[in-house]
Amino acid sequence: MSLSLSADRPDPPDAAVDGVWLECIACGDAFPPFEAVRYTCDACDGLLEVRYADHPSLADFAAQDREDGQPPRGVWRYADALPFDAGVSIDEGDTPLYAVPTIEEEVGVADLRVKHEGMNPTGSFKDRGMTVGVKVAERLGVDRLACASTGNTSAALACYGARADTEVLVLLPAGKVAAGKVAQASLHGARILEVDGNFDACLDIVSDLADRGEAYLLNSLNPFRLEGQKTIGLEMLEQFRDQTGDFPDRIVLPVGNAGNTAALYKAFRELVAAGSLATEDVPALTGVQAEGAAPMVEAVENGWDEVRRWDEVETRATAIRIGNPVNAPKALPGIRETGGTAVAVSDEEITDAQRALARDGVGVEPASAASVAGLRKLRESGEITADEQVACLTTGHLLKDPDAAAAAGVAPEPVPADTEGVLAHLGDE
Ligand code: F0G
Repeated sequence: MSLSLSADRPDPPDAAVDGVWLECIACGDAFPPFEAVRYTCDACDGLLEVRYADHPSLADFAAQDREDGQPPRGVWRYADALPFDAGVSIDEGDTPLYAVPTIEEEVGVADLRVKHEGMNPTGSFKDRGMTVGVKVAERLGVDRLACASTGNTSAALACYGARADTEVLVLLPAGKVAAGKVAQASLHGARILEVDGNFDACLDIVSDLADRGEAYLLNSLNPFRLEGQKTIGLEMLEQFRDQTGDFPDRIVLPVGNAGNTAALYKAFRELVAAGSLATEDVPALTGVQAEGAAPMVEAVENGWDEVRRWDEVETRATAIRIGNPVNAPKALPGIRETGGTAVAVSDEEITDAQRALARDGVGVEPASAASVAGLRKLRESGEITADEQVACLTTGHLLKDPDAAAAAGVAPEPVPADTEGVLAHLGDE
């Protein structure tokens, strides 16, 4: 078994229900989609993917608009590419694709757009995964949802769990989660366990809890989460083509667990199978990690095969402070087959990119700015060329990490509480 752009469309196995099944990416074993709680392959513990007998084309999504006058928007516009028609929803998706003229000119590429996933209801792309994943949890009848998180997953799960009236447990690395994210999980009513360890330790524990039947796991190891996140790719390609007339040559994105990288690759494979995307037009997936947490970059540099778990990780971009990218077996083939690459950037480069995005009116958290920092670096090294049309993914909103934003921004100036005093202060400059 291998994940490949040119793979034949599979015949539905006996396990398929209404043309949907779960399939192991390692050994190919197939399982019914909603019959039991299952995160990995029963036979070999490999990662599972949701597979479909049919793949709708981009034209099929667009045709829906004409039929009922009200164009479906957001994640559920792509219901025909998802395991069911509707999720636990608060109108996720349909995020803007911005032109960023100053960065485009400074970096020197033919076209640059930024897909701002921070504009989702809870301020990150995680909502796209949760609208699908929490619906599956409902169908399975589970009574407790759980995740490990660097923050955004916990905020989204707390919100969608509240919406579904289901208990939520989140495990966070103590002291390493940005304030906005903890506040969200807290107000939406999740039980927050602060673990004396990093994200990878939290994920080990929550996976154990899930295996023991204590909770339903909603990290990106859960294949249904990635189905929702796949719609980033579908939406991005439609928007980019609407705005520029073409699909992007390259998509640059921050990488933590590599769930989005895997999900975008899956979106492209399904569009190739549907005949909407020629293999030579598939955007080059280009992953960016922080220097202090870069096991995927290391794997690409060392010949693509093995991803070594980093026990010590550190970066200001706490959202991607991850040493064991669980979706690497799905994501590495995606980077490789699309002609992409992976690059590491320093915290300073991340903060500089955060400021550059802010100057163009796009407010993001540090991890998101890694995409633009990576683009700058690869443009400087010549790996990205001036004729490319590029889309960068920004994954979380500025307000997620107010401390990082304030530290990167302009310091407030104390002034007296009268006009003369304010004028005097301004005149002092
Ligand atoms: N950007 C942000 C803002 C994130 O929160 C994350 C992951 C990523 C990028 C990396 O995405 O894992 O698909 O490669 N955050 C997770 C969390 C781990 O717990 O919120 P990935």
